[in-house]
Amino acid sequence: MRLLVLLCLTALAGTALAEASAGCDPDGDSKAFNRCRVCHASAPGAADLSGPNLWNVVGRDAGTGPRYRYSTAVVESGLTWNEQSLREYLANPSLTIPGTRMASAPISDPDTLDAIICHLHTLQGD
Ligand code: HEC
Repeated sequence: MRLLVLLCLTALAGTALAEASAGCDPDGDSKAFNRCRVCHASAPGAADLSGPNLWNVVGRDAGTGPRYRYSTAVVESGLTWNEQSLREYLANPSLTIPGTRMASAPISDPDTLDAIICHLHTLQGD
C-alpha cells in the first residue's frame, strides 16, 4: 500500500505534485476506474475490449497501444497521454478529440478525475 502511494506520487511528481498529494489514493482510485472497465482492460497483456488496454497508457502517444485499431481521429490527434491531456479527454472526449469513438460520459467532477488519473499512473511496468 505504502509502496503504491509512493509509486503514484513519484509518477506524478514534476507535473502535478499538489494534485497528487491531494487526490492520489490508489485504494480508492481503482473504484473510480470501475466506470472504465466495461470498455477497457488494464492488466499487462490483457486483450483489448471495445476500447484499448490501458496498461502503460500514461506517457504514450495517443493511438499507439499494441494491437488495437484506433480511429484516425485519435491516431492523428498528436496528443501524448499525460496528466493534462487525460484530464481534458476524460472531461470531454469528443470535444478534445472530435471523431473519437470513445463514447463515455464526460466527467466533470475534479475529484473523480484526480482519482481516475491517479489510478492510470499505477498501470505501469514491463
Ligand atoms: C463505452 C466504452 C468506453 C468507456 C466507458 C471508456 N472508454 Fe476509453 N476508449 C474507448 C474507445 C472505443 C477508445 C478508442 C477511441 C478511438 O479510437 O477513437 C478509447 C480510448 C481511450 C484512451 C486513449 C488510449 C490510447 O491508447 O490512445 C484513453 C486514455 C481512455 N480511453 C481512457 C478511458 C478512461 C480512463 C475511462 C473511464 C473514465 C474510459 N476510457 C471509459 C471506449 C470507452
